[in-house]
Amino acid sequence: MKTALLPGSFDPPTFGHLSIIQRAAALCDKLYVAVGVNVSKANNELFSIEERVMMLKELTRSSPHIEVLPFTGLVVEFAKKKKADVLIKGLRGSSDCEYERMMAVANHKISGIETLFLFSDEKYSHISSTIICELAYYGASLEGFVPPSVATHISQKLPKK
Ligand code: PNS
Repeated sequence: MKTALLPGSFDPPTFGHLSIIQRAAALCDKLYVAVGVNVSKANNELFSIEERVMMLKELTRSSPHIEVLPFTGLVVEFAKKKKADVLIKGLRGSSDCEYERMMAVANHKISGIETLFLFSDEKYSHISSTIICELAYYGASLEGFVPPSVATHISQKLPKK
């Protein structure tokens, strides 16, 4: 596989995301990690797109064939612009499947671009950005959920108690 594009909101980037990014990167010559807005989460964002891109660039800088970029608009339009052959997405479990199936079918219908899915490693399948924000809000440790640099950025965002 030549070029793949892995889209997501990554708000914040987690160990689960990083695992999927590294596994996807092992399957292709070039991987774009595309950071975009999920409209259903748009009013509840912790980090700006620029902050998420900055964190992901830092976390992937040892892999030269991974490029982290922001995108707006339809993901398939961005994939075409970057000449990506395929989209790759991660699935944590059955609760993710139906929504992702509908998006993959719609994306294929409007562009012809296929989506490949990687199931999360079991040790990361309990991690979600929503749960991380909740843990952080109540002052719980984020060790094992997000890299230390991301945990620091999260603690700087949240109101001091
Ligand atoms: O990590 P997420 O929140 O599941 O990422 C969702 C994202 C940003 C990849 C998705 O909402 C998306 O692709 N948004 C751009 C608009 C688009 O192309 N939607 C799909 C049309 S079916």
